[in-house]
Amino acid sequence: MADENIVHVVGTGTIGEPLIGLLCDAKEDLSIDEITFYKHSPVLTDRPKVKGLVKKGANLAVGEGKINDFQDLGIDPVYNAEEAIKRASVVIDCTPKGTGLMNKEKYYKKYKDKVKGFLAQGSEFGFGKMYAVGINDAAITPKDQFIHIVSCNTHNMAVIIDTLAIENKKNHLKEGKFLCIRRSNDISQVKGFVPSPEVGIHKDEKMGTHHAVDVHQLYKTLDIELNVFSSALKLNTQYMHCIWYDVKLDKKITKEKATQMFIDNPRVSVTYKKASNLVFSFGREHGHYGRLLNQTVMVLPTIHVLNENEVIGFCFTPQDGNSILSSVSAAERFLYPDSYEEKLKCLGPFLLQEV
Ligand SMILES: NC(=O)c1ccc[n+]([C@@H]2O[C@H](COP(=O)([O-])OP(=O)(O)OC[C@H]3O[C@@H](n4cnc5c(N)ncnc54)[C@H](OP(=O)(O)O)[C@@H]3O)[C@@H](O)[C@H]2O)c1
Repeated sequence: MADENIVHVVGTGTIGEPLIGLLCDAKEDLSIDEITFYKHSPVLTDRPKVKGLVKKGANLAVGEGKINDFQDLGIDPVYNAEEAIKRASVVIDCTPKGTGLMNKEKYYKKYKDKVKGFLAQGSEFGFGKMYAVGINDAAITPKDQFIHIVSCNTHNMAVIIDTLAIENKKNHLKEGKFLCIRRSNDISQVKGFVPSPEVGIHKDEKMGTHHAVDVHQLYKTLDIELNVFSSALKLNTQYMHCIWYDVKLDKKITKEKATQMFIDNPRVSVTYKKASNLVFSFGREHGHYGRLLNQTVMVLPTIHVLNENEVIGFCFTPQDGNSILSSVSAAERFLYPDSYEEKLKCLGPFLLQEV
């Protein structure tokens, strides 16, 4: 038992559910012995989801006081919440803002001598070192037991910068401007829809919205200082975020070269489609649980070069797919520090080169 590799996912929402599904499907290739998950609310409408995940092979954990409520729904929990954390090798927190930090204080710190690593998603600032796969792997050290998987739009901005401006660890970005055009809520959510486009305010004096602040912080883990600024607005759609970018370099670039750089990056998917619903729909047909695991979907016909050093264009954000890939990558790294890259090759089919 002590030597088993157990991955425990806390939360079964937009990120948690497909993450648990992916871990179950790739369990053998990823050399994971057991996947467990924590479901918070015993809700009748969530019963098919929980049963579906159990059928895939994941073991359910619930709060001590809720065991009877789940049994009343015809669901038999295997572990209680704390027991599942205690016996895990890696814990991946996929709960809403604030809960991950609360869990860290209440449970994770208590078991940090037993559990190899803890991860939390997008909104959990202060949880641990920021991480996006392929961007700042070099910044993660064995001391980093708590990892903060950055948000979907941070992944997207980070890979644009990585592709165009970072060459042999040298930063060629003079200035990066980004407009994050966000979908109002996910198709799995009923709250948070907006009736019309809603613009955001620039809370950060230097960098505008938190998106630029986040990507700045992410690159800071590599000792790279980015000159970036972002704005954001929400659209009354449920399909995919979109980003407009304007990346000024300290060197010359052509449209052909920029296009080829995006095509050559395996974490970038490229498309000639201009409508996000078509990209989303392609993901539904060809992604895992409908998710593309790429960090961005670059719309090639929108790539434009100004003054021989400024690349401008549009791309779509695979909103939970890119976070899921970084989550699995970080978890595997905790489990297999010497061979995780080899094991992650099984996810290659979900990194689509073209949409
Ligand atoms: N959605 C995205 O596209 C996306 C992308 C990148 C990052 N993120 C980040 O990922 C995190 C999760 O987002 P999400 O969209 O998956 O959220 P979500 O769909 O709202 O799901 C949240 C999950 O957390 C559970 N939960 C709620 N309160 C809890 C508590 N007190 N203790 C334990 N579990 C609790 C919920 O369980 P019950 O339903 O059983 O109550 C639900 O399963 C957030 O930090 C978000 O910012 C989201």
